[in-house]
Amino acid sequence: MTTLEVSWPRRSDPVVLRPPTPADLDQVLTWRNRPDVTRWLLRTEVDPEAYRATWLASVDDPRDHAVVADLDGVVVGTGTLSVGDGMGQSQGDVWRGVEGSLGYLVDPAYAGRGVATAIAGGLLELAFAELGLHRVTAGCFAANAASWRVMEKVGMRREQHGVQDSWHDELGWVDGYTYGILAAEWRARPER
Ligand SMILES: CC(C)(COP(=O)(O)OP(=O)(O)OC[C@H]1O[C@@H](n2cnc3c(N)ncnc32)[C@H](O)[C@@H]1OP(=O)(O)O)[C@@H](O)C(=O)NCCC(=O)NCCS
Repeated sequence: MTTLEVSWPRRSDPVVLRPPTPADLDQVLTWRNRPDVTRWLLRTEVDPEAYRATWLASVDDPRDHAVVADLDGVVVGTGTLSVGDGMGQSQGDVWRGVEGSLGYLVDPAYAGRGVATAIAGGLLELAFAELGLHRVTAGCFAANAASWRVMEKVGMRREQHGVQDSWHDELGWVDGYTYGILAAEWRARPER
């Protein structure tokens, strides 16, 4: 079983992770719909009002850990850890609520400074050390090298190379990757 009470803020150098406020989301929306941000997203351009509403609703949803990444008072990224069921046979419920799905975005002005790695690492620590999850996965377009590099830097394994499993509005059918990590692997990772 998982414990869904979470304490905020959480430091994950060089950023601090915390649930979003309306003012945070205004900052995020200054860069969230830029083409260099949306190019490799599944959810491309967002409607600002719907985006605000969804993110603010997540604050009260115990299975939806959506955060902003604050770097010295500037909101430079976002992260999500959604908790769902794993797979399992019908007897018992050990697999319920033990699998996380991870996502992250960074303001292009702050790219290449380890922000996404810090968001991913902070949310994996939350997933395994606090929520007691069994496994976390994340996916990306195969061509989004910066994103899968982040997953590899935090110790995730490439579990699937989906050949033309993803539709891209400009490129058509393209390959996708899925990465995963288990709690035991997170605990056994080399000290950084
Ligand atoms: C992808 C993204 C999250 C990376 O954020 P970031 O804060 O720049 O990531 P980090 O600095 O923590 O790490 C990026 C790593 O990718 C590497 N990298 C960047 N561009 C690369 C490229 N074109 N090819 C290979 N590696 C690349 C960097 O060198 C770095 O690795 P290193 O530390 O080993 O040198 C960010 O660019 C982003 O938000 N992009 C738009 C939205 C998006 O694609 N989100 C992910 C959806 S799955």
